[in-house]
Parts: sequence; C-alpha cells; structure tokens
Amino acid sequence: MHCVKKITDDLYWVGANDRRLAMFEGVYSVPDGVSYNSYLLKDEKTVLFDTVDKAVGRRFFENLAAVLNGAPLDYVVVQHMEPDHSAALVELLCAYPGVKIVCNAKTLAFINQFNNMDIGPRAVVVNDGDTLASGRHTLTFVMAPMVHWPEVMVTYDAADKILFSADAFGCFGALNGALFADEVDFAKDYADEARRYYANIVGKYGTQVSALLNKASALAIETICPLHGFVWRKNLREIMSKYILWSGYAPEEQGVMIAYASVYGNTENAAEILACRLREAGIVTRMYDVSVAHASDIVAAAFKWSHLVFASTTYNAGIFVAMEALLNDLVSHNIQNRTVALIENGSWAATSGGLMREKLSKCKNMTVLDETVSIKSGLKPAQSGELSALADAIARTFPERAKQNTATGATGATGAAGATGAEIKPAVDKSAMFKLSYGLFVLTAKEGEKDNGCIINTAAQLTDEPLRISVTVNNANHTRGMIARTGEFAVSVLTESAPFNIFERFGFKSGADTDKFLGLADAGRTAGGLRCLNKNANAVIAAKVSETVDCGTHTLFIADVTEAFALSNEPSVTYAYYFENIKPKPRPPKEIKSGYVCRICGYVHEGDVLPENFICPLCKHGAADFEPL
Ligand code: FEO
Repeated sequence: MHCVKKITDDLYWVGANDRRLAMFEGVYSVPDGVSYNSYLLKDEKTVLFDTVDKAVGRRFFENLAAVLNGAPLDYVVVQHMEPDHSAALVELLCAYPGVKIVCNAKTLAFINQFNNMDIGPRAVVVNDGDTLASGRHTLTFVMAPMVHWPEVMVTYDAADKILFSADAFGCFGALNGALFADEVDFAKDYADEARRYYANIVGKYGTQVSALLNKASALAIETICPLHGFVWRKNLREIMSKYILWSGYAPEEQGVMIAYASVYGNTENAAEILACRLREAGIVTRMYDVSVAHASDIVAAAFKWSHLVFASTTYNAGIFVAMEALLNDLVSHNIQNRTVALIENGSWAATSGGLMREKLSKCKNMTVLDETVSIKSGLKPAQSGELSALADAIARTFPERAKQNTATGATGATGAAGATGAEIKPAVDKSAMFKLSYGLFVLTAKEGEKDNGCIINTAAQLTDEPLRISVTVNNANHTRGMIARTGEFAVSVLTESAPFNIFERFGFKSGADTDKFLGLADAGRTAGGLRCLNKNANAVIAAKVSETVDCGTHTLFIADVTEAFALSNEPSVTYAYYFENIKPKPRPPKEIKSGYVCRICGYVHEGDVLPENFICPLCKHGAADFEPL
C-alpha cells in the first residue's frame, strides 16, 4: 500500500524510509534510520526528482504509481547519482518506457558507468542555468559539484519558490509520519543528526557548500526539498544559518570537546580531571571515549565545539588505534579553525602527543597549544598543576567571559550633587524617568544546551564604527548570568503586534526553572546559534560582549554586533505603546487598601511603603517600575 505526502497542490513526496540499515554508506550508524526522498511534480508534464535506495524500491514504486494514478511519467531529474538515490533508475526506465532522463553530462557518464548501458537516446542533458518547462512550473538546474559528488546539481522551481537541494540540507533519521521540519522540534530532536549528517557526508566540501549557498542566496526560496530528512517550508533560516557556520568551519558553540583513548583508564582519568578544571573555570565540556563512541558522533562534535582536546595513550609506539582513526577522519573531513590541546600517555616511551600534533598539522588554522601534558602510566599527584596549567591555557583562549568590573568612584546622583558643595540636594522625581522613550526586546542567551531569554527595555545602539550596542539586565535575571559566562547575546526587537503572552513567557518566569522556548512556534536561531523570534519581532541583532559594567542591581553589557537582520517593516513596540495597548490593565483586589503595582507585570505589593531595593517577585523589575495603586 502506498504511503505518500502532499507538499503543495501538485508536488508529492513519494520516497520511503529504511529503519533496518545498520550503517549508512557502510560507515555511519543510523540508529533512527534514514529516509530516501523522491518527489513527484504533477504538472502538464510529470517530473520525478531522483529515485531511492534499492532497499526501499518496492514502496517507492507503489508510491509513484499511486500519485501518477495512470498518468505517464514524462521526466526523471537525476540530481545525484549516488546509489542511495539512483538504485531504482534502471527499473524505472523499464517500468516507464517513455520517461526521459534529465541530467548533466557528468551524471550521464555515471549512469552509463554504474549500469553498463547507454541511456544516451533517453537523456536530456542540461548545463548550469538551463531550464525545463513542465507547464505552470519552469525548472532551473543549478550545478552544485562536490555537494556531495562531482555530478550533483540542484533544481529551482520559480513558480512555487522550491529548491530541490539534493544531499544539501539533509538529515539522518527516518521520517516518523512528519515530513516537514516545522512538524517536529527540530532544534531539540534533530539538530544533532543534521549536524552529524552534514559533518560526515559533506563536511569535507565546505568551499563547495559555500558556493551553493551563494547561488541559493540569489533565489527566493520558500521551500527546500532535500534527498534525506525533512522538507523545510518555514523558518528556513534555522537550517541555512547552520549551513553557513558549518561550511565556514566556524564552531557553533564555545566549549571543549574532549576525546580520549584509554586502555586501562589512566588516560581517561587525566581527561576527566581536565574536564573538571575546565568546568570549574565555567567552560562547557563534552567528553567522548573514542573506543566506544562512534567516530561519526565525534566528527560531528568537532564541527560543533570551538575547542578540542585529544588525550591518547601510546600504543605500539604510535597513537592508540581508535584515536588514530579518529584523527585521520577529522583531517579528511577538513576540520579547521579550532583550538586544540593534547594529553599523551606512555609507560616507557610516550610518542602519541607528538604524533597527534603532526597529524593535526595537516589541518588549516588549528591552534595547537604548547602545553601538552605527558603521563607515564598514570597521572602523579605532582602533575595536578600541569593539568591546571593546561586548563588555564585553554581558558585563556576563550573570548572574554564573565569579566565583572567593580564600580569605581562614582556613587550616583547624591555624590554628584555633593561635589558642587551646595547644601541643598537637587530634587529627584523618578517619574521623570518615565518620560524617556524605550523599546521592548527579547534578550536571549545560550549556555551549553540551555537556551534562555528575558524581556528588557534597554537595548540601544552605542556606536556605528565599530557597530556596538548595549543592553542592561537585572542581576536577578537568569539570562544575565548566562551572558556574563558566555559573552554572547541576541536581541529580538519586538513589534506592536506582539501579544501579551510573549511578555508573560519571557518576562514573568525565571529561566532557571523554565524552558521559555518550550512549545513556542516561530522561534529560530541566529547563525551563531542563539535563539531569536521570527514572529512578533522586526529585527534580530546578535553581539559579543566587549565590556561588562556592574551597575549594582543591574549589569550593563557593551557588545560588538556580530550579526543583524531585519524581519519585517512592522513598527517596533515602545514602552508607552505596550502599557496603552498590550498590557491588561491591573485590577488590584478590592480588599487591598494601599500598595504599589508593578507597571511591567501587574504584580501588587501591599503596604504603605515600597522599599527602595524592592524587586518584583514576578518579573524581577525594580522599585522604579512600581506606581502607587
Ligand atoms: Fe544521499 Fe550523496 O547521497
């Protein structure tokens, strides 16, 4: 029985899933299976985009026949000749004798080479930029060599703004009833497998992927149909931004991946102590035992993290076998732009450190720290300082984090007034502060796997050259601590259409015990991996902290803009607009005779006096944001 999915009025997924495959391409474990996507366009002419692996041929042919429903198959576009997408091609030619094969010259040679046949008379050979009209649709073929074989091309349908992207934007994992990435929590449940797929399948070809991204950036794309994994029809930036990072070999996360090879646990012991020292310095760590973890997982992790530590025992006067294989794998996948530290072990002649260093010298832009820790059989108590020194050396290479400047000198308005020598202090009417105009923003941070965000009204541009912004965050906010530790944040500029529940979600709960993004549709990520809003915001600005100022109850972060993009022309919401039009009017309980109401969230503090240092227990805003009932 067929099992198909409709993508648009005339486009169908006719692929199939394989959950019995042990090793994809004979190398990569696929514990959650894999999908082989094939798409059928039912226009005046029918056009099939690629076929499937031989393992799922039967289901594919049932699907194809069901959607064709008796119509002839006019064209099959062969975008990629790797057999996981072309194994059913010859059977297709037999089943549909009238079908023409649309392919480029390299593909044609591969078809003949794989099948010992000449399909020349049935081929429509296309070049970069050539088009094929199928009726309402005009398909443009775009060459994408080495993404992931030399013959690869992708296809753009201008009518519905669809990119058929071949292997690009694919993901390991069978489809479990959901075809679209927006039907699942992709960031939580599938991003790791998308990274593992990218790093291992096309990670080596970053330059070629970048070239494809450049070509794609000139196209208006609303849907991406890859040959594996989910179809993207919403929030395309989520996967695009990952590809920009991965193809540029830029780390997604600041943190240390530690891969170790240990025969009797002594090298592991040193690696664990190093991990502890790094954690104590506030640095995120992730450890892998190379004898147990699959190499494809570690390669993917190396693409994710900014810093890599390799710890290996010496084995047969060389690097331990699994570690040697891993390093070969990483070199061949073109890993670059990382900071690396090494630990070696050897009972009589430790050579693994030097040999690992030699292997890594083949990678571009790798900073291998000088401080290799060398162990003889097991770590000695006297070497504790060496591991601390290695942790310190690693920590020194991180961007400035959590540097808190203690306030010096100035003590605010009263001090300034005192400096005049006048006995009469100027009056301070805090309501004057409410005349200042502010916007409202969702400020987000990411620390390890944890995303968080809060509402602020204090984002502002500081300078144009260099482009700098500042944000001020209440110290009680969990987001503040995350920014202090990671040195990064993003600001989503809220619009007048932002509903009150956005303010409730980000403003009235603490991220310490809440996942503020749980169930939030239309949230994406910046290229740097920070959460941002795609809806109810008109722009997103991400920045790296260059200076931190302790303002007592609040912290001021001054930061260099690293990424900025506009989402819409909707007006930004102002503080005043929020109070007038979005925030429900507070309705204090009748029995409260006197008190103060929080202008931000409506919390009512009962009593005649509001302490100066009062912090709203709901939204964490200070006394200045309260007004008498
Ligand atoms: Fe999914 Fe390169 O084949």
